[in-house]
Formats: sequence, C-alpha cells, structure tokens
Amino acid sequence: MIDRRTFLNLAAASVATSSIASCSGTERRPAIGVPRSPFDDHSTAEQVTAGVDLSGKLAVVTGCTSGIGFETMRVLAMRGAWVVGTSRALQRAEAACARIKGTTTPLQLELSNYDSVIACANAIRSINLPLDILICNAGYWAAGGQRMLANGVEKHFAINHLGHAVLVNRLLGRLYMSRQGRVVMVSSRAAYRNAPERGIEFDNLDGSVDYADRRAYGQSKLANALFSLHLAKLLKGTRITSNALHPGVINTELFRDEGRLFKAAISAATSLGFGKTVEEGAATSCYVATSSLLSATSGEFFEDCNAVFVAGDNHLHDEAMAEQLWQVSENLTGQYLVSHTGPDFNDFERAARKRQAHKK
Ligand SMILES: NC(=O)c1ccc[n+]([C@@H]2O[C@H](COP(=O)([O-])OP(=O)(O)OC[C@H]3O[C@@H](n4cnc5c(N)ncnc54)[C@H](OP(=O)(O)O)[C@@H]3O)[C@@H](O)[C@H]2O)c1
Repeated sequence: MIDRRTFLNLAAASVATSSIASCSGTERRPAIGVPRSPFDDHSTAEQVTAGVDLSGKLAVVTGCTSGIGFETMRVLAMRGAWVVGTSRALQRAEAACARIKGTTTPLQLELSNYDSVIACANAIRSINLPLDILICNAGYWAAGGQRMLANGVEKHFAINHLGHAVLVNRLLGRLYMSRQGRVVMVSSRAAYRNAPERGIEFDNLDGSVDYADRRAYGQSKLANALFSLHLAKLLKGTRITSNALHPGVINTELFRDEGRLFKAAISAATSLGFGKTVEEGAATSCYVATSSLLSATSGEFFEDCNAVFVAGDNHLHDEAMAEQLWQVSENLTGQYLVSHTGPDFNDFERAARKRQAHKK
C-alpha cells in the first residue's frame, strides 16, 4: 500500500514528466556506430569528465547563470578549460563566474537581439584563441499561453534556435582552428514529444495560425536538434563535430514562470528519481563536449550520455526537414551571418601584426 503523500507525489511527477519529457509512442535505441559510454542517467558532470584535462582549451557556455549551464561551466573550468559564460545581464554572468574556481570570462548575450549575438561573438573572437567547445545551452520556456514575438517570429524559435544559429555561424571560423572543435546543442526530449506533429511549421513561424506554449518550446528544441543534424552534414570532412542532446528533467529556473502545481510536480519527479539533479543534468553536455570517444561522432542525439535513435512518429532525424530549416533560418537572419570556407586566420594575423607594431 502507498500512502496519500506518496500517491500525490507520484501523480504530480507523472504530470511533470509527461509534460516535459515523456516518451510514450516512441522507442529509443542505441544509435548505430557510436561508441557506448559507461555512464547513465545518474552520472554527474564531474564523473563523466574525471581524468579529462582541458588545460589550454577555450569553451563557451551560453546561459551560464543557473541550472545546467552553471554546472557545465563550473565543471569545464574545474577540468582546466578557459570558459566564457554568458547571460542577458553582464552582472549576472560576472556573479556566476565569481562563484567558481578556474579561468572564466563573463559576457553579455541576449539571444533575441542578433546585434547582441554579434557583439558577443566578436568579444569571444577577440580572445584570439581557437575555440574548442561551443555549448548552446541557454534556453527560454514560456508559461501563460501568451504568444510573443521577437524579430517577427515566435519567441521560443527566435531565442532557442535563431539566436544560437547566428552565434554558431559567427564562431565557426574559430572552431575550424581548433584541433577538434565541438558544437553541442542543448535540445530536449520535447523535440520529439511536444513539437508539432508535422515538425517545424514553416508556414506558422510567428505562431499566428495556432499557438501553444509547449508546442512552441518543442518546436524550438526540434529546431536545435535539426540545426545540429544539418551542421554536422555541412561539416563532414572537417575536424568540427556537432551533436544535440536531452539533458534530463531537472528542477531549474527554466520553469520560473510556471504555477505552484507544476513546480511541485517537477520537485516530486526529481525526488522520486524520474528527474535529475543539476549535477546529473550537466553530465551529457560535459560528456559530449569532452569525451575522447566522440572525436569523430557528429550529427547524433544524446540522452543520458549515450547516442540514441528515436524511432516512431517524430522528426528528430529528418534530414530533409533539417535542410529546409537551415535555408529558412538563413533567410531570416541573412544580414547577421558571415560566409565561411575555413579557418579565419585574418583576425589572428591582424592581432599578431598589432602586437609586433606595439613592441617596436
Ligand atoms: N531543466 C530541464 O528539465 C530541461 C529539460 C530539457 C531541456 N532543457 C534545456 O536545458 C537548457 C538549460 O536550461 P536550464 O534548465 O538550466 O534553465 P535555466 O536555469 O533557466 O537556465 C537558462 C539559462 O539561459 C539564459 N537565458 C534565458 N533566456 C535567454 C535569452 N533570451 N538570451 C540569452 N540567454 C538566455 C539564462 O540566463 P540569464 O537569465 O542570466 O540571461 C540562464 O542562464 C535549456 O536550453 C533548456 O531548454 C532543460
């Protein structure tokens, strides 16, 4: 017999997990050809990076001020990386960086403002080092059912997808210069659970035809996964990899605007073992960003530190949709993008010349 409190907790947990990340109607199996890790849903970011030396490496973590991003930044810095952490408010990024040991640089980044994205990318480029790890972690989750727009498209799509797409574009030249650059897109199971049935609704990107918070979030997370899939295709033959992941269900600030019941449900899910702690929630990001087993793995979707193929009625691995998304995203952000054919040595050379001139 279970008591009333346990029953209520179980009910609440089931609501939370089905709302955020249930996987009914889908079958997840190990992705073929990707090395299996010994880690699982309860491995922590510290455990998956034990013995990894990131000294001399430059990493960027967007959304470093709380939740998964903060823990990701903390552990990468602990392993020796120089980590750039971003926030919409520079002061919050500074405070987050001040709370951890290691070398960090706080920067301002508002993903719904593409001028801010460019300024942030330029500040990262001015560090004048190859970029080894770019973790697109920052995320927005609305509650209240009110459709909001940014740059003419629905706000989840603008922030979670398009802002990061511009950032990746602006930093590709530096990733090319790394011995093995890695792009990590923090997506979600919502990409195949809550996205619209027909996938990305290219004819409803402003949500004017039909809008629901969860679906809009799911669509933006599907866009994260498809963006990574097509980027991996474009980067084939280079030393840069691109992968996407679901971090788990974690009780973070993401749900700050949700009601008490929803928050209680998330807490219950975590305490009953359906969810993860923040330390566990950052594990897959840290694993995908650093594991030597994955230096040639690209275009995959990870959950619980292993690549999965999600069968069933969803668009997670839909290459045609990924290509269409790429083209549509380029059309929407074209004026903010630069074209790349390889490493951008120019800035480095300019900086080196400046240094020499300064010495004379
Ligand atoms: N928590 C979960 O259960 C869960 C499940 C699946 C996927 N995810 C994904 O995991 C990632 C991290 O989420 P979290 O749970 O750690 O949430 P969180 O604690 O709310 O962290 C989100 C981060 O994103 C930043 N951010 C929010 N809006 C932004 C914007 N417009 N421009 C730039 N940065 C912005 C926030 O920084 P500032 O507020 O300081 O700007 C914050 O550091 C997200 O992409 C989320 O979709 C989370």
